[in-house]
Amino acid sequence: RTTAVVLAGGTGQRVGLSIPKQLLKIAGKAVIEHTLSTFEQADSIDDVIVLMAPGYVPDVEKIVAKAGFKKVTRIIEGGATRNDTTERAIEALEEGLAEGEDRNVLFHDAVRPLLSQRVIDDCVIALERYQAVDVAIPSADTIIVTRTHGEDGEFITEIPDRSRLRRGQTPQAFKLSTIRRAYEVAAGDPNFQATDDCSVVLRYLPDVPIHVVAGDEYNMKVTQPVDVFIADKLFQLASAATPEQMSEEAYRELLTGRTLVVFGG
Ligand code: CTP
Repeated sequence: RTTAVVLAGGTGQRVGLSIPKQLLKIAGKAVIEHTLSTFEQADSIDDVIVLMAPGYVPDVEKIVAKAGFKKVTRIIEGGATRNDTTERAIEALEEGLAEGEDRNVLFHDAVRPLLSQRVIDDCVIALERYQAVDVAIPSADTIIVTRTHGEDGEFITEIPDRSRLRRGQTPQAFKLSTIRRAYEVAAGDPNFQATDDCSVVLRYLPDVPIHVVAGDEYNMKVTQPVDVFIADKLFQLASAATPEQMSEEAYRELLTGRTLVVFGG
């Protein structure tokens, strides 16, 4: 059995709107509706739980009811940090577990609405062999490591070989028993700090190999205001069956024309 956990507990400070960015409308639908619709359509996903920013659970309930999503079984509040939200999801999943039962879980950022079926399927297939799976793409940019020296600002300390660097996306997929164990060990570390779930496994269960599945350039995280425009363009591209099937003229128009972004209701 495979459950998708949609992490939507954040408030989107960097996008800076009065509502959480997962409720922002892009290409005619709330960001989280696009994300939920992708999992609803995925043959390899049995059920979906949503962890929403406190105070906004009713907004998601409305979206789910209106769209008629049948796989969404629970909508609850997230925690103060992304990792707190993951822990709440683990607790919620354990409640419904029979003695000795395990299951697959895919943790996905609600604000990556352009996730493809291919990436979901590859994660679920990888879980047949591995207990932990990440999704990543190569980095076009050179990544530098810096250190800050007081008022003089930042200086480079290292430039890792770009060919080995990847940009981590989501889903991050696990056997539920594995990710639960990783968080149990982490709970004993007073300095615990992380921004994703694979780093919890890497740090606290170092013997568990974390397999990497190829991600997708479309699977961007809506993080900064400019990402709203980029995501809107990508939805236009995604809705034209494949970019190759568009006429050169339509493609040029898409790349240069003005985008229409629908904010709010
Ligand atoms: N997330 C979560 N619970 C939190 C914080 C974040 O479930 N306490 C989720 C977000 O809703 C988002 C994903 O984790 O789907 C990625 O996080 P990020 O892009 O950092 O979202 P926000 O925390 O909302 O953004 P910001 O840091 O700009 O406030």
